[in-house]
Amino acid sequence: MDDQQAQIAKAAAALKGGGLVILPTETVYGLAADAANARAVAAVYAAKGRPSFNPLIAHVADVATARRIARFDERAERLAARFWPGPLTLVLPVADEAAVCDLARAGLDTVAVRAPGHPLAHALLQAFGGPLVAPSANRSGRPSPTTFADAMEETGASAAARIDGGPCTIGLESTVVALLDKPRLLRPGSVTRAEIEAVVGRLSEAEADAKRSPGRLARHYAPNAPVRLNATEPRPGEAFLAFGAAGVRDRTWNLSPTGDLAEAAANLFVHLRAADRSGASAIAVAAIPHEGLGEAINDRLRRAAGFVG
Ligand code: TXA
Ligand code: MG
Repeated sequence: MDDQQAQIAKAAAALKGGGLVILPTETVYGLAADAANARAVAAVYAAKGRPSFNPLIAHVADVATARRIARFDERAERLAARFWPGPLTLVLPVADEAAVCDLARAGLDTVAVRAPGHPLAHALLQAFGGPLVAPSANRSGRPSPTTFADAMEETGASAAARIDGGPCTIGLESTVVALLDKPRLLRPGSVTRAEIEAVVGRLSEAEADAKRSPGRLARHYAPNAPVRLNATEPRPGEAFLAFGAAGVRDRTWNLSPTGDLAEAAANLFVHLRAADRSGASAIAVAAIPHEGLGEAINDRLRRAAGFVG
């Protein structure tokens, strides 16, 4: 067995025993547990300091496993065929006898499912042989970790096994779409609104009803320093997150010098964390175009700044 296989086998055994695992995915690092084990799921909520009314995503190796957890309609089949494995989460009616405990679903009769595209996440799901809950590995309300070191700093101490997959290639959490009545966008992500609409038609907004999108707290993904949006330049004492051509200054991080939104998404949480650690009085952030991936980036920035999305 090579190192990586041994690591996967060790992590699968830890999960079987009710332990937690730091898990790389293509979006952000997750803190994984056996979705069917309520004690393990309770430990995930505790490690994150997450309110138990905010349900978790069940991660699966493939569509066949997802169909045993959630009731797929024709729209869900089409979205899964188009975007899985990948950064899309579907909220569907929960199936009878789904191996996802009540606590993981926060008592709802719906369940969020996603088949991640990261090879190590996929290998662990196959080795484990069932659904794994995996919220982002940050403590509740903090930016999601997109590197192994950041995941370790956030919740590493609570994990029985830890898988280092290097930096996450996407860097933003998955897009969340509910298919309960009309298709609704609960969380913008790297699969863009336009890409989803090309498959299922026009997306309605998430309802204000907290029961339908329980995780959408106003202040979320937040660093410690206050965040100021749409800044053209930093004020004295501020750190600056630039986008596009910008001068080199102290305490300035450029999300993408060439103005590339995918690069900006991949850098967003790493740069927010670096700016936060710089000791600046606040973090000023340049305007990001609100197109394609920009919708998801602006969603996270508004939440980091404490505005309702
Ligand atoms: O990219 C991702 O999705 C990452 C990686 C690790 O897979 N995971 C992640 O999980 O972001 P988490 O727990 O941080 O965010 C899950 C989101 C929350 O906003 C939660 O409220 C929502 O999905 N959610 C989960 N189950 C739901 C349900 N039944 N109905 C509505 N929203 C749900
Ligand atoms: Mg999260």
